[in-house]
Amino acid sequence: MRGVTRPSDPLDTVLAYHEATRHHYDRYANSLGYLDWATQPDPFRRFAGSERQFLPRTVARSPLAYDRLFDGAGIVAEPCTRDSLADFLRHALAVSAWKRFQHSRWALRVNPSSGNLHPTEGYLLLPPGNPLGEAGLFHYVAADHALERRAVVAPETWRRVFPDLPVGAFLVALSSILWREAWKYGERSFRYCQHDVGHALAALRLSASLAGWRLQICPEWSHAALATVLGLDRPDGFLPEEREEPELLALVWPAAVDRPRLPEPDPAALAAWRGSAWSGTANRLSQDHHEWPILGEVADATQKPAGIAAEPLAHPARPIADLVPAPDARRLLQQRRSAVAMDGRSSTSLVRFVRLLQRVMPAAGAPWDALHSAPQVHLLLFVHRVDGLVPGVYLLPRSAEGEARLRALARPDCRWQRPDGVPADLPLWLLLPGDCRSVARNVSCAQDIAGDGFFSLGMLAHFEPALRARGAWFYRNLFWETGVIGQVLYLEAEALGARGTGIGCFFDEPALQVVGLSGLEFRSLYHFTVGMPVEDPRLTTEPGYGG
Ligand SMILES: Cc1cc2nc3c(=O)[nH]c(=O)nc-3n(C[C@H](O)[C@H](O)[C@H](O)COP(=O)(O)O)c2cc1C
Repeated sequence: MRGVTRPSDPLDTVLAYHEATRHHYDRYANSLGYLDWATQPDPFRRFAGSERQFLPRTVARSPLAYDRLFDGAGIVAEPCTRDSLADFLRHALAVSAWKRFQHSRWALRVNPSSGNLHPTEGYLLLPPGNPLGEAGLFHYVAADHALERRAVVAPETWRRVFPDLPVGAFLVALSSILWREAWKYGERSFRYCQHDVGHALAALRLSASLAGWRLQICPEWSHAALATVLGLDRPDGFLPEEREEPELLALVWPAAVDRPRLPEPDPAALAAWRGSAWSGTANRLSQDHHEWPILGEVADATQKPAGIAAEPLAHPARPIADLVPAPDARRLLQQRRSAVAMDGRSSTSLVRFVRLLQRVMPAAGAPWDALHSAPQVHLLLFVHRVDGLVPGVYLLPRSAEGEARLRALARPDCRWQRPDGVPADLPLWLLLPGDCRSVARNVSCAQDIAGDGFFSLGMLAHFEPALRARGAWFYRNLFWETGVIGQVLYLEAEALGARGTGIGCFFDEPALQVVGLSGLEFRSLYHFTVGMPVEDPRLTTEPGYGG
């Protein structure tokens, strides 16, 4: 197996991991190269012996216009009840459908996952007086839309760890089981786990809007503190090969209330939490495992230290006209799917394309307020079929600083031309006109979906300088930002009657070279395509939760 040298500086480890897990035209990142069905991981984690509470699968709620998910306008915050928690999880992390083909049956979820492997696990931390009983930690079992109680936490311990929570507030946390992705994707899988966290974060943030809640990562919490409150540093059946990696903790609170600061608790408070009444043993996911040591190295190197301050966020308000007729928010969240093929013919209008791009610009409101760092990711677009727009390579910088650096680095013959019909506040630039269907396909691992849609894109992250400025832990955040953007693209595509697909398989160097970029200042971290899907008629669909 190819390994990276083991540098002691976490940033060097991250850069070495990133380099080692790039795909090249003549060599893919290291993986088994085949699917070992005998070791296929169970996509559902369960904790045997823990008390399980089934949540209502449908909750009576008035329809809500899809556009309200982003601005929350006019939504009155609901109290934290069994129904509102059920509705929140049902539209963020639940099973949305079962697909069947011959003898195979597999679940799809509201949040997408690379290869449908679903490494992301969700947890709720509910305060004293919550609708499920005593305060504590609960694990969400998507298979059953149920919560398993992992720990009962004494009220005084809760208040030491989470002081000053407003009424109606609670916490949600995400973790990744790296093995689930590694089973298929080998060494590159850490990247996919982080994309999936970003998708899940956006899914949670947008679902929080349904109840008039906000949701934001708690930036001050370290990896170690999160491991403690999630019980992931306990034995409890966790196999080292099935390491469940803490990712993030987020506060959910009524939108009308100011967000309280939630600093990392002191060691004594965490020790008290550790001494809570725990229950449940993690299920074994595979009978056997293939080890990828590089995954442990990059996971260790990117653990967040204590003492990281939140970056002040000042996203502008960017009002976007409502869709008419308004799609129902819950229906749209449930219907999100990936296209497996695009028709290679249909086009979209410039008005719809502009709206979709406006939605991915950082703005006050959801889901951008869930992240706690300034935008680092910009879109390099391969536009194929947008009526009224010249086909070609376009750039959508998502920050003024990003635009300045990209202008300085891009090849000199880029045109930097403003297309007609694009509003002044949308920084879309035509760089290179021309048919770019085959280049789009090529840089996305020769996948037809990248050339057969309306457009595809690469997400260019400000890379090495952003990591040097903040630390190796920020590597995960860069991927989370791409996942949040991806989730918005998925939903907007549905809202416009089309469909999207995340693309984790791509060649980053040729993608960058299209506009003359090279080196580590910008790297492409995720690709995406949007177009008119071609359905596979052999597949049948069943509801997420029967009966
Ligand atoms: C991070 C990420 C990377 C993905 N990469 C690819 C890809 O390279 N090619 C592809 O056809 N689909 C890709 N997909 C789509 C997934 O296979 C799809 O999301 C998964 O099968 C679940 O189906 P669903 O999105 O319809 O729920 C990707 C999805 C995600 C979230």
